[in-house]
Amino acid sequence: MTPKKVFSSYFLTEDAQKRLESLGYDLDQSSADQLPRAEFLRRVKGVHGIICDSACQVDAETLDAAGDTLQVISTHSVGYNHVDLAEAHRRGIQTGHTPDVLTDAVADLALTLILMVLRRVVEAAAVIPTGQWCNQPTWILGRQLRGKAVGIVGLGRIGEGVAQRLRGFGVSRILYSGRRPREEAALRVGANFVSFDELVRQSDVVCICCSLNDSTYHLFTYDVFKLMKPTAVIINISRGGVIKQEDLVSALANKIIGGAGLDVMTPEPLPTDSHLLKYPNCVLLPHIGSATVEAREAMGHLCIDNLQAGLEGKPLPNPIPM
Ligand code: NDP
Ligand code: DGY
Repeated sequence: MTPKKVFSSYFLTEDAQKRLESLGYDLDQSSADQLPRAEFLRRVKGVHGIICDSACQVDAETLDAAGDTLQVISTHSVGYNHVDLAEAHRRGIQTGHTPDVLTDAVADLALTLILMVLRRVVEAAAVIPTGQWCNQPTWILGRQLRGKAVGIVGLGRIGEGVAQRLRGFGVSRILYSGRRPREEAALRVGANFVSFDELVRQSDVVCICCSLNDSTYHLFTYDVFKLMKPTAVIINISRGGVIKQEDLVSALANKIIGGAGLDVMTPEPLPTDSHLLKYPNCVLLPHIGSATVEAREAMGHLCIDNLQAGLEGKPLPNPIPM
C-alpha cells in the first residue's frame, strides 16, 4: 500500500519525533524557524495529513492547496483560531488539537509574568550589568500579590490553572468573566463570575486566558484600559488579537495602567521597532507558554494520536470542538 503523505510544519520533541518517524508515513517536515506561507502552500499539496501550529493559517486557501487527498489537520496547540473549522468540516476533513497537557505549563507562565511585572524583574535584572545599584529604600519598588484582586478573562482549563495557583499567593478575590458562568470550576477555585466591565474596574491584575474568537477579538481597547485602576496590570497568555495593541501602547504611554506582561502579541514575531519595546513596565515573552519538555512531549504524542486516527478514518481522540 502506498504510504500516506504527511506534512509537518516542524520537527517534534525527541520521543514524539521518533514515534512519528516510525509510523511509515511519507513524511515531509520543515526545519525553518518561520515557514514562509508560499512554501507551506507548496509543501501541503497532495498530502493526507497536516501537522501545524498556531503560526500556520489553515484556511480555505490551504485546503485548496492540499487538495482532496487531505483527511486530517492535527494542530500542535490547544488554540485553534488559525484553523477554518467550518471549511474543514464542510470538506469532511477532521481537525484535532492538544488540550490539557499544556495547562500547567501555561498557567505557570501566567504566574511568572504576573510576578515579573508586579516585581519589575526585567528592570531590576537590567541593572546588574551596569553595576548601578542603589541603596535607597524607594528604589525599584514593586507590588505584592497578597491582598490583590485578580480578574481572569476566561475560566477555562488554563484560567482555572491560573486561579488555583493564585490561591497560594493570598490574593483577596478571584473574579472571572466569560460568555456564561463556569460554576464547577469557579467553585473549585473560589472565583466569582462578574461582568467584563466589573472585572476590569475591580481587578489589580487582569489575566487574559480566553480563546480568540469573534467575541474576544480586540476586547481590550483604550476605553477598556481607561476603566482599569491606574496601578492595575494586564497579562495576556491567550492570543495577541484579544488586545488592540496600538491601544495598549497608548495606555502605557499615557500611564493609564500600571504595566503589561505579554506572552502573545501581534504580529509574531514582534517587529523589533515595535513601540511596545519602549516601556520598562511592559514585559514581553516570545510565545513560550507551553514551552516545557513535559508539555511539548505530551503535545507531540496527542498530535500524533489525532493524526493517526484521522489517517485511519477513525474519530480523533482530541477533536477540535465545533
Ligand atoms: P478552554 O477552551 O478551556 O478555555 C477558553 C476559555 O475562553 C473558555 O472558558 C471560554 O469560556 C473563554 N471565552 C470564550 N469567549 C470568551 C469571552 N468573550 N469572554 C471571556 N471568556 C471567553 O481553553 P484553554 O484554557 O485550554 O486555552 C485557552 C487559550 O489559551 C487557547 O485558546 C489559546 O489561545 C491560549 N493558549 C496560549 C498558549 C501560549 O503559549 N501562550 C498556550 C496554550 C493556549 P466560555 O465559552 O464559557 O465563555
Ligand atoms: C497553544 O497551544 O494554543 C499555544 O499557543 C501554542 O500555539
